[in-house]
Amino acid sequence: MRVLVTGGSGRLGRSVVTVLASRGHEVTSVDTAEHPWPEGITPAVCDLLDSGARAELFARAAPEAVVHLAGIAVPFARPDAETLRVNATLAWEVLSAAVGAGAHSAVAASSPTVYGYNTPSWKPRYLPLDEEHPVAPWHAYGLSKVMVEETVRALARTSDKCVLSAVRPGYVVSPEEWRGAVTQQGHTLSERLEDPALAAGSLFNYVDAHDAAELFALIVENPERVTGGTVYNAIAPDPLARGPVEADLARLHPATAEHAPALADGRAVFSSERARRDLGWRPERTWRDLLHQTEEA
Ligand SMILES: NC(=O)c1ccc[n+]([C@@H]2O[C@H](COP(=O)([O-])OP(=O)(O)OC[C@H]3O[C@@H](n4cnc5c(N)ncnc54)[C@H](O)[C@@H]3O)[C@@H](O)[C@H]2O)c1
Repeated sequence: MRVLVTGGSGRLGRSVVTVLASRGHEVTSVDTAEHPWPEGITPAVCDLLDSGARAELFARAAPEAVVHLAGIAVPFARPDAETLRVNATLAWEVLSAAVGAGAHSAVAASSPTVYGYNTPSWKPRYLPLDEEHPVAPWHAYGLSKVMVEETVRALARTSDKCVLSAVRPGYVVSPEEWRGAVTQQGHTLSERLEDPALAAGSLFNYVDAHDAAELFALIVENPERVTGGTVYNAIAPDPLARGPVEADLARLHPATAEHAPALADGRAVFSSERARRDLGWRPERTWRDLLHQTEEA
């Protein structure tokens, strides 16, 4: 299948492109940044905000499926208005182009930050957090991801051929970050585990980039199993914490204390049960295995 991946040179995109290609798909990787792809993957350097370049790209690639990852990927990385404008515009333009090009499937990256945790006033209605839990973004990045999800739903209402959906990947850990490279938040994974206050900022969520990539692949390969407008959490089933997460959670986010005991069996603060049920997604790469190998090396 011809798959167009936007943001293919990024932390998550590199794994998505690699996984799709390894499953036999014909992948075009689009980004403003170059990446040294091996033969078999078609690179396209293109600013997707440029309407002419975007139209030319979609006409040339004629995608049967689109995975949209490009955007401003970290809260507070850029001025708020820019984050809103870039992420919302890219989602509308890229997903509309996917529908216009006749793709049968288009999936966009959202984020668990839509839940709006990490403020003193945030209180979950229940734990673990599934996709039915209300969203309550408080920063421009989280709000931009709600706009991505609403764009998916809006386009799904009028698209009968293209199945549109969104994925909320947890804190994505790339292969080099398992090996000790500094993560998007400026510290290593080992440091994040040693100081629970660091991982508490994302409620101890994480996902291996390869595992997350497999969910994007399953979505584009099985459009008949996805209902248009669906949002999927894509988060490892265990928390990124050495100790019992319910204790750290209640200590560092006191407003969660009422529901924290629901996590006493070692499960993550987030549920990705929907992706398992609809698509058979089973994230298998855990920090206990991957970091252990790194620490031993
Ligand atoms: N990394 C995470 O932990 C995480 C978690 C949840 C959601 N996400 C989302 O997943 C997606 C990918 O995240 P990432 O960590 O790989 O980010 P990243 O910054 O590593 O990659 C994003 C890529 O998009 C490209 N890009 C930005 N604007 C573009 C444009 N106008 N035209 C073409 N390319 C453009 C960038 O050059 C970059 O390579 C983002 O949408 C992000 O919000 C990431």
